[in-house]
Amino acid sequence: MKSFYLTTAIDYVNGSPHLGHVYEKVLGDVIARSRRMMGADVYFLTGTDEHGQKIQQSARAKAVPTQEFVDSIAQEFVALTKLLNLSNDDFIRTTESRHKQVVCDLLQKLYDKGEIYRAEYQGFYSTRQEQFLQKKDRLSSGHWPETFGDVTEITESNYFFKLGNYQDWLIKHIEMHEDFVFPAHSRKLLLEFLSEPLNDLCISRPCERLEWGIPLPFDENYVTYVWFDALTNYYSAVAGKGRWPADCHIIGKDILAPPHGIYWPIILQACELEVPRTLLVHGWWSINGAKMSKSTGNYVDPVDFCSKWSVDSMRYFLIREMVIGQDSDFSMEQFLKRYNGELANDLGNLVNRTLNMTQRYAGGVVPLADSDEDPEKTIRALWVQTCDEVMKLIENFQFHTVLEKIFFFVKAINRYAELRAPWKLAKDTSSKGQALLCTSLATTAEALRLAATLLWPVMPTVADKIRACLGQPALARWESELNWTNRLDGVKLTSVEILFPKTQPVPVPWKSFQPTWPRMQIQRCCANFWSSVSCLRVKPVVRG
Ligand code: ME8
Ligand code: MG
Repeated sequence: MKSFYLTTAIDYVNGSPHLGHVYEKVLGDVIARSRRMMGADVYFLTGTDEHGQKIQQSARAKAVPTQEFVDSIAQEFVALTKLLNLSNDDFIRTTESRHKQVVCDLLQKLYDKGEIYRAEYQGFYSTRQEQFLQKKDRLSSGHWPETFGDVTEITESNYFFKLGNYQDWLIKHIEMHEDFVFPAHSRKLLLEFLSEPLNDLCISRPCERLEWGIPLPFDENYVTYVWFDALTNYYSAVAGKGRWPADCHIIGKDILAPPHGIYWPIILQACELEVPRTLLVHGWWSINGAKMSKSTGNYVDPVDFCSKWSVDSMRYFLIREMVIGQDSDFSMEQFLKRYNGELANDLGNLVNRTLNMTQRYAGGVVPLADSDEDPEKTIRALWVQTCDEVMKLIENFQFHTVLEKIFFFVKAINRYAELRAPWKLAKDTSSKGQALLCTSLATTAEALRLAATLLWPVMPTVADKIRACLGQPALARWESELNWTNRLDGVKLTSVEILFPKTQPVPVPWKSFQPTWPRMQIQRCCANFWSSVSCLRVKPVVRG
């Protein structure tokens, strides 16, 4: 069985998770579930990044002991994996001893090989990005870009890793491995970054400045630079499990160059370990055009969101909306459009009408299709084509198109049902009419079974519910489950709750107020609106 080791970035525990983090973890889960369905032996890792200055500062700001602080926020991230229904095989925290031990082993190995030396450092440091800055990072105005947060100048003696020695090797590696970075424009950006000479990497922080880290195994007056520590999680989590190298690291575009695209492959090469196969780089979710972020307070709260809608509808929206590598702007309007349209109207109605028609015209038992004409041939051909295309799209990380194709098929099933119109056939007592009635019910039910089965990696709960009401067991592998068959012949259908309760679009107060409205009506309109958007945390715009 082909092994597939997949990771997500590990989140900083300096604040609660937002929709940007959720997207990445859901994407990982969709890939993990799809590959398992395709027969791979998948290992899916996620976790939390718990050391560094940023976290020490957040804990101090709350006047809580740092360990207590990270424990409580890490619990939120663990709870989130359950809420999101992630199928991760492990959850690693960088404060665990199994991780710290491996970080020390790698550092000692590099030190013994002479890859690490001590020197004086003077320069600028961004705590928000946990990174030393260079002259070229500075704006011509003399200020630092907003993404770096507060920047301070420091002078100190530190340990350095000989990153620069590996520059030519890395360029060659990227040039020879086209799939090392996906998508292609991220690969191009990485190569552009490498067109300038690489500085060696400072891998230590003096304890006076930072206590919250892993002590260097060869000098207890220093702790390990948080990126060296964090990147190692991918390896430490599977040390001794025979899983290395990773097949896919999922990361956001802000942490490609330099951490994942430069530090990580070079650290591995210097340690004589294999380099990961693919860095899968996604873009950013924004809201009102500004990047969602805990640091700026501009975000969608996933826990609120899921309780208001459902986990699967959120998973659907995130995966359907974002093209991997590009940015997406979150809007409630767009969410509601997809929720009411694709989920409630197309899929929800298909489920209802399949159950209702089978109940009304066949006593709730799926009959055997006993005719085969153009409409049936057409929908079957569309299925074969959809399934074929979807397999290729999964291999190429085109999940938004996967959903587009599946929902095109769902719409086609609805059109098929309308064309055959079982409600009319039921009135036709001729044997031809009755045969067509059986065929139309059987075809609709089988097509729905197939659509739900293919949708499973993105909406596992919904797909399981649909399959259960069609009398189907839990899925283990796709295999023959994706073949068009008459396996539903004679199956008694069971009812299912409404999968996507329809919502009325909430009127935006400032677009709907009428001068004649009584005060009560205005208040009600505002209250409805705020309750519908209360999962959005948007910084108020202050106009001067
Ligand atoms: O960078 N849209 O942690 P982090 C999409 N600890 N993705 C987003 C996002 C947004 N608005 N905001 C954040 C770190 N992310 C490090 C990683 S890995 C060894 C260490 C993504 O909590 C971000 O791009 O700042 C990253 O991939 C992940 O969430 C964690 O971000
Ligand atoms: Mg970040």
